[in-house]
Amino acid sequence: MKIEFYLNSHLVVVDVDPMQSLLHTLRGTMNHNATKEGCGEGECGACSVLFNNRLVNACMMPIGQVQGGDVMTLEGLRQTEKGQCVINALLEAKGVQCGFCTPGMVLALYALLEVDANPTEQVIRTAISGNLCRCTGYGMIVEAAKIAAQKGEGLW
Ligand code: FES
Ligand code: FES
Repeated sequence: MKIEFYLNSHLVVVDVDPMQSLLHTLRGTMNHNATKEGCGEGECGACSVLFNNRLVNACMMPIGQVQGGDVMTLEGLRQTEKGQCVINALLEAKGVQCGFCTPGMVLALYALLEVDANPTEQVIRTAISGNLCRCTGYGMIVEAAKIAAQKGEGLW
């Protein structure tokens, strides 16, 4: 089935099984590999992308549901000033260690800051609660969110 959608602001068309996940379509069919596969069952958040400005697990979304929608992945977000702001904050706070959770974390922090430019620690922890990180203990990622909010003042 032909599925048409916007990927990082570009109109794309793929011809795939509509039940194939968005994640496998991105990585396997379209060679967009920034989005990671962890658990494959909606538990780890490694595959987080934005769908119509909402954070979703791409492993759980059939590509058929993406028809006509708008997907943003790290490949697109890192080209933007806001994306760079979040990435630089994660680097500054040493919130990137093995890096496996990082693409999903960048999307999750961006999604948070888009709705709350100055989040409290509790709000940050809730916002990243669907994104597992085995390395950092989360403190550095919480710090990164605060840095991104502070350094991106006026951006968000
Ligand atoms: S790979 Fe999608 S939530 Fe873990
Ligand atoms: S930096 Fe390794 S899982 Fe988060």
